[in-house]
Amino acid sequence: MEPPSGLRRLAMLLTLLPSLASAATLDCRDPVPAGYASPPYYPTPYGGWDNEWGDAYEKAVAMVSSMTIAEKVNITAGTGIFMAYYSERDVYTSLGLIMFSSLGRCVGNSGSALRVGFPQMCLEDGPLGVRPTDNVTAFPAGISTGATWSKELMYQRGVALGKEFRGKGINYYLGPSVGSLGRQPRGGRNWEGFGSDPVLQAVGSAATIKGVQEQGVIATLKHYIANEQEIYRMYNPVQQAYSSNIDDRTLHELYLWPFAEGVRAGTGAVMAAYNAVNGSACSQNSYLLNGILKDELGFQGPVMTDWLAQISGVASALAGLDMSMPGDTFGNNIPLFGYSNWMYELTRSVLNGSVPVDRVNDMATRIVAAWYKMGQDAEDYPPPNFSSNTMDREGPLYPGALISPRGVVNEYVNVQADHKTVAKQVAQEAITLLKNDDNFLPITTSAPLFVFGTDAQANPKGINSCTDKSCNGGLLSMGWGSGSALLPYLDDPISSLKRKASKVTYYATDSFPKVAAATEDDVAVVFINSDSGENSYTVENNHGDRDANGLSAWHNGDTLVQKAAAAYSNVVVVVHTVGPIIMEPWIDLPSVKSVLVAHLPGQEAGDSLTEVLFGEVSPSGHLPYSIPVKESDYPDSVSIKSSPKLSQIQDTYTEGLYIDYRHFNKAGVKPRFAFGHGLSYTNSPSRTPPSPEASSLPSLPRDPRKPTSPVSTIDASLPPAADAYYPKGFNKIWRYLYSWLDKPEADAAHAIGAAGKKTYPYPTGYATTQRASVPPAGGASGGNPALYDVAYTLSVKVTNTGSALRPARPSRRPTNGGFDTPVIQLRDFAKSDSLAPGEGATLSLRLTRKDVSVWDVGLQNWIVPNPAGRYSVWIGQASDDLRVVCYTDTLTCEDGVTGPV
Ligand SMILES: *[C@@H]1O[C@H](CO)[C@@H](O)[C@H](O)[C@H]1NC(C)=O
Ligand SMILES: *[C@@H]1O[C@H](CO)[C@@H](O)[C@H](O)[C@H]1NC(C)=O
Ligand SMILES: *[C@@H]1O[C@H](CO)[C@@H](O)[C@H](O)[C@H]1NC(C)=O
Ligand SMILES: *[C@@H]1O[C@H](CO)[C@@H](O)[C@H](O)[C@H]1NC(C)=O
Ligand SMILES: *[C@@H]1O[C@H](CO)[C@@H](O)[C@H](O)[C@H]1NC(C)=O
Repeated sequence: MEPPSGLRRLAMLLTLLPSLASAATLDCRDPVPAGYASPPYYPTPYGGWDNEWGDAYEKAVAMVSSMTIAEKVNITAGTGIFMAYYSERDVYTSLGLIMFSSLGRCVGNSGSALRVGFPQMCLEDGPLGVRPTDNVTAFPAGISTGATWSKELMYQRGVALGKEFRGKGINYYLGPSVGSLGRQPRGGRNWEGFGSDPVLQAVGSAATIKGVQEQGVIATLKHYIANEQEIYRMYNPVQQAYSSNIDDRTLHELYLWPFAEGVRAGTGAVMAAYNAVNGSACSQNSYLLNGILKDELGFQGPVMTDWLAQISGVASALAGLDMSMPGDTFGNNIPLFGYSNWMYELTRSVLNGSVPVDRVNDMATRIVAAWYKMGQDAEDYPPPNFSSNTMDREGPLYPGALISPRGVVNEYVNVQADHKTVAKQVAQEAITLLKNDDNFLPITTSAPLFVFGTDAQANPKGINSCTDKSCNGGLLSMGWGSGSALLPYLDDPISSLKRKASKVTYYATDSFPKVAAATEDDVAVVFINSDSGENSYTVENNHGDRDANGLSAWHNGDTLVQKAAAAYSNVVVVVHTVGPIIMEPWIDLPSVKSVLVAHLPGQEAGDSLTEVLFGEVSPSGHLPYSIPVKESDYPDSVSIKSSPKLSQIQDTYTEGLYIDYRHFNKAGVKPRFAFGHGLSYTNSPSRTPPSPEASSLPSLPRDPRKPTSPVSTIDASLPPAADAYYPKGFNKIWRYLYSWLDKPEADAAHAIGAAGKKTYPYPTGYATTQRASVPPAGGASGGNPALYDVAYTLSVKVTNTGSALRPARPSRRPTNGGFDTPVIQLRDFAKSDSLAPGEGATLSLRLTRKDVSVWDVGLQNWIVPNPAGRYSVWIGQASDDLRVVCYTDTLTCEDGVTGPV
């Protein structure tokens, strides 16, 4: 057998520091705990002051200046759930109604302002591929992408995703997802993101945003913020969404961190989460939207709701929401009856003076600016040519309407190109070898293989047999819900094994069958999985979150492994999973020689895995979360909250900064496998101690925002009522959402507005004058640009020698400057290319000012607690394998030390 051809090395850098029912009748809720509140923050800061967006705003301001009020409002909301595209170029009459021919249908379709050249926007899920349509690539999920720890692959996957979304004519990619961050191990949608750490999430999302947007597609960073569990995430006519109650420091140092990096990377859009924070719904929380996102982080693009998450009209507009999707209400009314909180109601609110005209100017400008910034005004930007409602070529042009004309809705444009190459690379580099006793792996293709578990094969009922993957049958390629995509095909492990190995016996069952007595040479390969997804579906009693199965393998996977381990002396376990699973029932069994976590591989699940099994490549994945010994090792506060009462569930983040490895390290609990753990087929590489370079760290310079925004030049006087009238002779399609009003309604609203009486019950703290100064931590997209100054650079040379490093004396524990801070926190990482034996590579790691800072709640700013003090920078291959330490005061490093945990 050939030696593994390549070895990839990871260096992690961790630092140690100092109607049906109205909303009004829903007031019944558990009280938000004392002290947690979202202060008012008004008004919404205008966009357009960040130079990065300068050209786009200049053009957008020109366009919005020529829009009528009905046009400005029209582009801020969807035209209704299932209400699709049409073009006024293709109007035709049928059944006495005016109908329109469709150009395609997306999960969200905004109104247009065609008179001035602004088309409808097509918004489409999801983070791992275009959903739900054909001829696309089903990429590995975010969690797999995080497990590669490869910045290059994160970016390349983004490039390929962007090309596919563009090819289908989509304007908005509804991803990447960084909230959920992975606080709750049972959380249903953690797998859509990159791992349970803010830096891993930040790097993954920034690379994805860059890759997607370079193709001209607007990325939508979501879900802002603290959407950590699925159950009771949504407001509906009878139930309030849960409230995530978070203190300011935890918000900044954990949950906001990836949003800050995503805004800095230039994300075109942000999606507000379903849930509330501190008792105030994210879609209308002025402190989160106006304050933190648009002022402190300086976000210049539009903020949209999650689907049907809008629960108010005027209030959400004032709080900084810019786009309502898909346009209908749900939180305070049922969708599909043509009710909207915006569209005609927003027009009315502007005419009657309750929503200031400049707020709508700003909304529309943000939306148009994002479109210009990505170059979507280019002639060759394709219109949508697929349907998210049907796989048929022809279908109803308005699936939501009672009577709808039919037409071509799917042109089956094949956008896959060669993207399976990057998809496979991600799936493969994600594969994480947790255990490999006696260097059992890799095995030869001539070994007699006995394969167990339905997870080894494609679902016999069909690879796309359940809507949005809302069943767990056969190989688990991704979780379920809107984060899923259709598989164009599935390269399953069993087919790949049969192609490569000479003796394969497959038992397509999850109950251990009767088998012949095993020989010494026989190898059992057991496939198990654990699934989760979105709360819109319940799968085997799991309501999105893993509330029924917990962190155990599904379908009696533990028993299957145990029985295989009793019958065979060589067992390899392959796990496809959305997140951590408890492995104690079998991990220490002597015949369980090797364990591979293959995460969620998407369509390329077969060869990506078997090439690792057979040693064509060495595994190079590392865990993007910790795997504990038992679930009770987590803090109680991170469990799923599901008390079934008609009140608002209060989920208070009492664990603060201490989630995942931060918690285990603080509690002194040794996990079974630490965050970052991942073996390869050779021993530890040799490292030359890095030579750190420092820049000085004076106090954080203020970088004041340009005080003026071009949005202020758009006419903000009360628009004429006539601009809001339905066009003469216009025939409405039932349930289609329009921004026009009937003449009497428009006139009545205008009369109120013209009278100038501010009778609207504005929230406490409401203001309309733009703030003169930027928050101390603000200044540009992502916050004060000086936060991202590189303070230290470390270059580490890694060599594939196979020699192990000897542990040496423990290092000193630096001071944390009085801030209770996790003992280690990931700050940067780098992965080498595949290294041949003897070959070396130099990896460069950096620490920014923000990386060595803490959030000071009193100052409302990032501070370096002790700039002249000693900070230890640990470098290693996993959070429990840190054998090199560098000191910021002496700029020296020691190798072969014992890590801090
Ligand atoms: C939530 O309340 C906490 C405690 O008062 C406060 O520190 C934090 O800033 C609030 N956050 C938001 C987003 O309202
Ligand atoms: C709003 O958008 C729809 C869909 O594109 C369009 O038919 C309608 O004319 C637009 N309304 C205005 C005021 O432009
Ligand atoms: C994919 O596109 C091809 C044409 O390139 C078409 O023949 C085929 O039907 C499409 N696949 C599906 C599943 O619709
Ligand atoms: C569909 O997409 C293709 C490729 O992106 C594009 O060239 C074409 O114009 C689109 N077709 C329609 C009818 O929108
Ligand atoms: C203006 O219209 C909005 C939307 O219908 C409504 O909520 C608000 O109360 C109205 N304001 C006034 C002053 O009538």
